[in-house]
Amino acid sequence: MQTQSQVNMSFEGKVVIVTGSSSGIGAAAAIEFTKEGASVVLVGRNETKLKSVRRECEKLGKKPLVIKADVSNDDEAKGLIEKTIEHFGKLDVLVNNAGVSYNFDITSDGFMENFDHIMNLNLRAAVYLTHLVIPHLKETKGNIINMSSVAGVTVNGGSGGTISYCTSKAALNHFSRCVAERLAPYGIRVNIISPGPVRTDILENSRNFHLSWELFKKRTLLKRVSEPKEVADLILFLAGDKAKGVTGSDYVVDNGYLLKQ
Ligand SMILES: NC(=O)c1ccc[n+]([C@@H]2O[C@H](COP(=O)([O-])OP(=O)(O)OC[C@H]3O[C@@H](n4cnc5c(N)ncnc54)[C@H](OP(=O)(O)O)[C@@H]3O)[C@@H](O)[C@H]2O)c1
Repeated sequence: MQTQSQVNMSFEGKVVIVTGSSSGIGAAAAIEFTKEGASVVLVGRNETKLKSVRRECEKLGKKPLVIKADVSNDDEAKGLIEKTIEHFGKLDVLVNNAGVSYNFDITSDGFMENFDHIMNLNLRAAVYLTHLVIPHLKETKGNIINMSSVAGVTVNGGSGGTISYCTSKAALNHFSRCVAERLAPYGIRVNIISPGPVRTDILENSRNFHLSWELFKKRTLLKRVSEPKEVADLILFLAGDKAKGVTGSDYVVDNGYLLKQ
């Protein structure tokens, strides 16, 4: 018979990297993984926010490894994986969650700079980190979760300013499916989560001050936006043994946003 502590500690002994865990969905996921007994690696650039998430994890009795890194920088991405292995000795789960959504129209000067910035973070960093973790995930038969968006399959409310963001998420979706197929022989699963609006720091971090959560609520069938923990719960489901038969899938959690388009 399972004891209560076994029931609640489904990630005991597992090592999990969550990129972009200084705020929003990533921070919520790091805290939920910690609650379930995982050793978590917190990654982001904002030290104040990282410290605050670290304190939340420590209150739960676990000491996360905190790595200040820009994951779109190859050296820093490599360092992140090296430090994780040096510190914890293995890796079970990679959550490629760090992302931005700077608005910029393709008809404006300087568009390509915006495109490169978004693609380098939302797509290329996830691709490079995937490449780097394969030897470690082969050892643990671990898995990868890529944080996409409903923007990967829609034009995001028809606002042309998010062309780069939509393109990055659509590419991340297809990369995830291709790599799920490639890594299945090693027992490595790769899945996608596509949230609709989630109340996080994304509007401030991406300087989208013209948008609001009230506006997003109106674009959903359920007239609500999600809280980060709702997405974190889905991350933990897909990362855990209950989802052992799930790979190459795209789980949508959007309050009916896609159906309303
Ligand atoms: N919120 C939504 O409505 C929504 C909807 C669909 C999909 N998503 C996706 O969910 C993911 C998380 O976003 P969120 O909503 O939680 O937004 P958020 O609160 O702005 O979190 C984004 C995270 O990414 C990190 N980050 C940004 N640039 C980075 C870089 N170069 N290197 C390392 N970390 C970096 C940020 O940390 P630092 O600033 O400390 O670097 C932060 O921790 C993103 O991929 C986003 O596209 C969000």
